[in-house]
Amino acid sequence: MGEARYDTIGRNYARHRRTDPSWLAEIVDALDGAHRVLNVGAGAGSYEALAADVVALEPSRVMLDQRGADAAPAVQAFAEAVPFANDAFDATLGVLTMHHWTDRLAGLRELDRVAPRHVLTVYEPLEAHDFWLIDYFPETAESDMEVNAPTPATVAEVLDVVDVRTLWVTRDCPEGFAAASWARPHDYLDAERQQAISLLALADADVLARGTARLRDDLESGRWYDRYAHVIEAERADFGYRLVTAVRRGG
Ligand SMILES: C[S@@+](CC[C@H](N)C(=O)[O-])C[C@H]1O[C@@H](n2cnc3c(N)ncnc32)[C@H](O)[C@@H]1O
Repeated sequence: MGEARYDTIGRNYARHRRTDPSWLAEIVDALDGAHRVLNVGAGAGSYEALAADVVALEPSRVMLDQRGADAAPAVQAFAEAVPFANDAFDATLGVLTMHHWTDRLAGLRELDRVAPRHVLTVYEPLEAHDFWLIDYFPETAESDMEVNAPTPATVAEVLDVVDVRTLWVTRDCPEGFAAASWARPHDYLDAERQQAISLLALADADVLARGTARLRDDLESGRWYDRYAHVIEAERADFGYRLVTAVRRGG
């Protein structure tokens, strides 16, 4: 495990990844009043305004260094080895992190050990939701992140899943994850933003260069609008992001 991937790809994360208020509302609701919350893979501190006693767990020093002065206290550790006692928390939270874990089941077992309730994001492959960005970067559909997307079934291998809800992506979503800018295509031309989206940051340089050039050409020529203008008329879209609530098996 040792090396933290986000030490390489997370450098400008905080600048481009901001808490989405509609996702935060769903998360607060799913946490169901939990007081002590462990935010696993906490990154720069999004989704911690929970009116609760939050502790952040994050392996990457680069990410920890982007946490603001008023962010929750943080420990540098991996989900697969949580440095807290059994039942130290009421709940754990994991937003857009599980797909990065080296051993998801070991991580889930550790979460189960330290809390009885868990609120975790999972997702379906973007290609399954016809996201137009994949037309420009088709190779990313074959990436490990997409092919081995964590699902409710992944969580159910260790925990009892009690709720799965859709996390809609609004057209003005302030986040910077892969589909956040679905209605703002020019965002995907920005090299710094691309590096804050792991799907693109982990793609080969030539894949990234080729797709970016095609997208730029299509936006400049108007071809992009001919193909996709109808898509971006909606107020919100479902790109397969799901919020799973799970509890201790038999609990
Ligand atoms: C896409 S970021 C999400 C950060 C934050 N949860 C958010 O929503 O802004 C993924 C985070 O998971 C962390 N991560 C990667 N592998 C991990 C592991 N094995 N255990 C815990 N966190 C991990 C990364 O360092 C990174 O900060």
